[in-house]
Amino acid sequence: MKRLKTTRETVLKASRAYYGHRAYYEDLLIQRARRFAEANKRELTFLEYAFGAHATHPVRKVLDVACGSGRHVFGLAKLGYECTERDYTPERIQIAKERAKREGVSVRLLQGDATRLDYENEFDVVLALYILFLLPNDDDVLKTLECGYRSLRKGGILVCNIGNPFYSGKSWFSLQTIYKGLEVVEARAPGIHSTEIVRLLDFDPMHGVAWWQETSTIETPEGIHVFRDRERLRLFTY
Ligand SMILES: C[S@@+](CC[C@H](N)C(=O)[O-])C[C@H]1O[C@@H](n2cnc3c(N)ncnc32)[C@H](O)[C@@H]1O
Repeated sequence: MKRLKTTRETVLKASRAYYGHRAYYEDLLIQRARRFAEANKRELTFLEYAFGAHATHPVRKVLDVACGSGRHVFGLAKLGYECTERDYTPERIQIAKERAKREGVSVRLLQGDATRLDYENEFDVVLALYILFLLPNDDDVLKTLECGYRSLRKGGILVCNIGNPFYSGKSWFSLQTIYKGLEVVEARAPGIHSTEIVRLLDFDPMHGVAWWQETSTIETPEGIHVFRDRERLRLFTY
């Protein structure tokens, strides 16, 4: 397998294209497909549990450093939290803005890089969900955690997750996909049918770094849309 070039710029450029192309369609699926809605509900329940169990004071202000189209923050805003959303990909912020307007939800939405946030002592909770394993290197991971930490008021909490290759479930960043080298992921909801062919391009086991190529074919009443992009994930181990 040919080792792919991994500079910070290559990773950011790939991620920007990947998330930009899929912004609109992923948002449709998240809102319309029952499986996504249920997963989202479970994650919101977990977040509220974590707020209650670990923050030393009642949580009011929440910052999401890589919100995507805002699936966590919209849920939290509807529960009464005061939410700020940041994301590196402008298309994601645009989709979130349209949704906020449509649903009459009040959230602050700004484009921004999670490694360069300049909040201080402002939030009760910082979310860094499904982002750390996309960042190009350890330096960016540390900077994101540092920015998150600085943004917190004393006694607040940072909630993050990472990609674990030993996860035995049906996640596509599991070892199963690496062994098989190929995965087909299908999702359907009213007005949208998405088929993704996920192919492993490169895996560096020493550093747990995988490059995937994802070809997405998305059918909607407006037509068929095909995107082929690369994405790089880091599979952290203990
Ligand atoms: C897998 S999505 C997760 C989005 C959201 N947290 C969720 O769970 O639905 C990853 C998001 O991270 C964003 N992203 C990638 N690199 C980033 C960076 N350096 N700073 C902020 N956002 C970034 C992408 O634009 C994308 O929306």
